[in-house]
Amino acid sequence: MHIITTVQEMQQIAGELRASGKKVGFVPTMGYLHEGHLTLLRQAKKENDIVMLSIFVNPLQFGPNEDLDRYPRDIERDERLAREVEVDYLFYPSVEEMYPTDRTTNVEVVKRTDVLCGKQRPGHFAGVVTVLMKLFNITMPNRAYFGMKDAQQVAVIEGFVDDYNIPVTIVPVEIVREEDGLARSSRNIYLSERERQEAPHLYKSLCMAKERIVKGERNPKNITSFIKEYIETNTHGVVDYADLYAYPNLTEVEKISGRMIIAIAVKFENARLIDNITLTVE
Ligand code: PAJ
Repeated sequence: MHIITTVQEMQQIAGELRASGKKVGFVPTMGYLHEGHLTLLRQAKKENDIVMLSIFVNPLQFGPNEDLDRYPRDIERDERLAREVEVDYLFYPSVEEMYPTDRTTNVEVVKRTDVLCGKQRPGHFAGVVTVLMKLFNITMPNRAYFGMKDAQQVAVIEGFVDDYNIPVTIVPVEIVREEDGLARSSRNIYLSERERQEAPHLYKSLCMAKERIVKGERNPKNITSFIKEYIETNTHGVVDYADLYAYPNLTEVEKISGRMIIAIAVKFENARLIDNITLTVE
């Protein structure tokens, strides 16, 4: 595995790989790798000749009161895991390398952000697409892999790649979960023992909601109020949101039909957990 820390070197290698006709699969991450990230990497390995992984905790996508300083990091462990799944290139730039000067431009996100996590994180998705614009130009991948864990992120990135005709295929990957259903996340380590025990109720509530839809429920409000009540009865967490939207447009629906997402965010004392399921109702 080659470890590259400068934009210039990474871009030169990427250019040569493109010219040679090799297919490059790219997995952008903020590190502290877990089974979710590794699943993306394994899929990229299967579908491409070369796998590139980036590890960069992107300050632009963190708000002033968010956990940028506390974001977990362990580059040695990440390197070892990346080698195990046979990553070919690890791009690991510093903040100074990625953002050496004040920015002249910013990519703005004008849709799909005023709901779910985007609503409470102004500027977050602009920060995500800005770093991705850079990372795509630096690594020039054929395919880029993103987890449906962050389904709103996938919806925004798909819109972004369409808007700017970026020559990369976005590959969404199913959420990877613990055996008890909890979606894998770098933030799970912040949970207390009791919270960790309660956390699987997020997924459980989504599955029960889905079952109600399968059985004929078509009113989105009944679904979201069921989830809120279930979480607040069965955990000590506070529901930030429990919403149902059309996917990927993230617009409201009056009646459940077509492709949809049910998404929740629950605040525990030391961590805020998110989860979602997408489903299609004919
Ligand atoms: P990060 O949170 O490190 O996640 C990197 C990728 O791993 C994302 O596409 C995320 O959806 C995926 N992922 C995380 N947990 C997962 C799980 N349990 N199952 C499936 N996929 C999972 O998302 C980011 O970084 C950043 O916003 C980034 C795209 C790198 C831009 O900075």
